[in-house]
Amino acid sequence: MRTKLLAIVGSQRENGNSYSLARSVLESVDADWDIIQLADRRIEFCNLCEECKDRECVLEDDLDEILSAMRSADGIVFSVPKYLDAPSKFLALLERLATIVHVRRHMGYGGPVRKPDCKLFSEHKPFCLFALSGTGKVKKGNLQTVVDYIEFVGLTLISHDDRPFIAVSVRAGDERGEVLRNKAAIKQCRSLVQKLILSTTAGQHTGNSL
Ligand SMILES: Cc1cc2nc3c(=O)[nH]c(=O)nc-3n(C[C@H](O)[C@H](O)[C@H](O)COP(=O)(O)O)c2cc1C
Repeated sequence: MRTKLLAIVGSQRENGNSYSLARSVLESVDADWDIIQLADRRIEFCNLCEECKDRECVLEDDLDEILSAMRSADGIVFSVPKYLDAPSKFLALLERLATIVHVRRHMGYGGPVRKPDCKLFSEHKPFCLFALSGTGKVKKGNLQTVVDYIEFVGLTLISHDDRPFIAVSVRAGDERGEVLRNKAAIKQCRSLVQKLILSTTAGQHTGNSL
């Protein structure tokens, strides 16, 4: 069966560089794929109602649909532009997912951990990260919190063994589509996604580095 990948594009600009990069890479690998652009999705902020301790989140937005797409994918590619660190809607998505895990483990927000094995995903599910900047640079550490959140919700980081960095750092420029001129970065992202695909078929973690 072909690997099914999901790209989550964190940009607030529809069809921007993060989307173009994700699409161009996914079109070049041997996998089925889908792309969710957060720009056209609604993500509310967690208000810590704790209802999610024993049911789905009660906020009415697109979280359930995104979570279900993540669950049915074999691996996930996050393509995220540098906005100071990361776009706030993307952080809101991670905050929501991480809070569901936290609240379910504690059976509420505070108190001791009661269900340490509670997970959002039952299978090994690898992810990788493309980090795009305009004219600046994504520095090591910029996305550490993002990676911590994603790992906390139960995904497994795949990164280049030979690069001391958690993401492929892509200088994308600011104009829409400008990233497609950065052939070296596209090649690097493609090889990372191929590694991610291998990890999904092996069903195991193939290493990461920071
Ligand atoms: C709110 C905001 C903050 C940004 N901060 C940075 C930054 O700190 N460094 C940088 O190099 N580019 C920064 N950029 C530029 C974007 O990373 C760049 O334009 C990228 O190509 C946008 O990707 P997109 O087209 O997928 O949105 C920022 C853009 C926005 C909208």
